[in-house]
Amino acid sequence: MPKAPPKFMALQHAAIKVHDIEAAKDFYVNKLGFTISEIYPPGTVGDFPFGLCFMRCTELHHDLNLIFWPEGEGPAPPEGRSFESLQTGLHHIAFQVANRVELEAWVAHLNEVEIEIFWGPSIHSPVHPEGDGFWGENRALYIADPSGNCVEIFCDMAVMDPYTNQVNESWYRDRLVRDGHSPTASDPPEAWKP
Ligand SMILES: [Fe+2]
Repeated sequence: MPKAPPKFMALQHAAIKVHDIEAAKDFYVNKLGFTISEIYPPGTVGDFPFGLCFMRCTELHHDLNLIFWPEGEGPAPPEGRSFESLQTGLHHIAFQVANRVELEAWVAHLNEVEIEIFWGPSIHSPVHPEGDGFWGENRALYIADPSGNCVEIFCDMAVMDPYTNQVNESWYRDRLVRDGHSPTASDPPEAWKP
């Protein structure tokens, strides 16, 4: 058996292909609040035909990288959202906010800038008193960018117990209290088994 590789620290950035860089910049910068760190147009990125638009929502150089082509040479305009399309690739990318209050502020903001929330906000949980019956143990909403790439905004991602592969019980009960329920309103979901 080979030695285990070093552990990853985090899933950090995503690079997504867009069909209209101006529309994408408007969406991510003007509507979602990203800052552009650097842009390199097509023709300047080695032998590759595409350009790069590095953008950030943290202090790191990029959390998101938009990949774009000269007008008329890039991917076709979307036929739908990545959520439902039969193309391989990313289904959605997700950005974390601090808590439920901030997620609710995002709902108000998205309504103001007229971005459709096509799912949520919803608590993905089969056991939480307000849960939608889905799995995932977080609170989330979903939108799509102008190229159909879906973006999730979420908070309260469950902390896992590494020994039982179950949602950490004290985290679960704290969340119930944060959400205005009794800490014993329900129990963490059963550990998943193959
Ligand atoms: Fe997700």
